Amino acid sequence: MATILVLHGPNLNLLGMREQSIYGAASLKEINGAVEGLAKELGARVEFRQSNVEGELVTWIQDARGRFDAVIINPAGYTHTSIAIRDAIAAAEVPTIEVHLSNIYKRESFRHRSYVAGVALGQISGFGPTGYLLALRAAVDHLAARSRTGF
Ligand code: DQA
Repeated sequence: MATILVLHGPNLNLLGMREQSIYGAASLKEINGAVEGLAKELGARVEFRQSNVEGELVTWIQDARGRFDAVIINPAGYTHTSIAIRDAIAAAEVPTIEVHLSNIYKRESFRHRSYVAGVALGQISGFGPTGYLLALRAAVDHLAARSRTGF
């Protein structure tokens, strides 16, 4: 069974209250519940963590090596600043999918650069909570294809 770690970065604990016109009304708990439901359907196991602390996210990414088959991460504000998170993803060598609720390319120019994108399997941006579900499907498909082909 594919085991997938879902990481939420800073301020995502405030979803549902925070800037609703940008991030929508769903809470983090509701988003995680929807991901959990799809994981059951797809026969995957998911584990969720959220932190406002960069180093904690770095440690969880490091620890994912050998423990998880894939990582789904919304690095939130750290997307645009954190070389440490990028380096952790590169070091862990666990396929990682980057998710953003909002379309970061439609927003302020400082959000257009993602330090994570260059080490991610792919990026999903702008579909709200659905982005996490798309990421889960992409992770499960990627792992299935990899085990079929051996790459
Ligand atoms: C975000 C986009 C980031 O620019 C922002 O700092 C966030 C959330 C998103 O999900 O759209 O906190 O990652």
